[in-house]
Amino acid sequence: MFPRSIVAVIVVAAVCSSVDAQVSNCARNYTVVSGDTCDEIAGKENVSSFQLATVNKATINAGCTNLRAGEELCLGIVGQDCEVTHVVANGDTCESIAEAAGTTLDILLENNPNVNSECNNIHPGEVLCTAKDVIA
Ligand SMILES: *[C@@H]1O[C@H](CO)[C@@H](O)[C@H](O)[C@H]1NC(C)=O
Ligand SMILES: *[C@@H]1O[C@H](CO)[C@@H](O)[C@H](O)[C@H]1NC(C)=O
Repeated sequence: MFPRSIVAVIVVAAVCSSVDAQVSNCARNYTVVSGDTCDEIAGKENVSSFQLATVNKATINAGCTNLRAGEELCLGIVGQDCEVTHVVANGDTCESIAEAAGTTLDILLENNPNVNSECNNIHPGEVLCTAKDVIA
């Protein structure tokens, strides 16, 4: 044994430059697989359709027709990540969704700014944030 040890720390600073827009402070990442739609990703990953679209607005277009297999998405920003969700089914109303989730209509609408106040613009398969508190 040497009387003292010498620790050599090699710091490799990797400078990442990517053509894909990267979201900083990402709480959850997801890699797109072939055949994914935004609603499917939202449904299986417990992220609201609004949150998925908003966080990835730099890469996903309005109709969500430009997903690429292998593409990295961010599902939520640290501190603004709603993981409590409901997949809209036929016949659902905002009232019924809020009641089933144990939250209120007001909080539901606050957490899903894409849903209008009449709640007549939701569609089956869309994913809503049903957290009991206002997330963002
Ligand atoms: C998500 O991906 C970004 C960019 O690659 C990375 O910096 C970050 O650590 C990842 N976050 C998680 C929670 O895996
Ligand atoms: C989504 O939420 C459900 C119900 O809480 C849970 O069973 C499932 O494991 C979650 N999936 C992911 C990917 O977090």
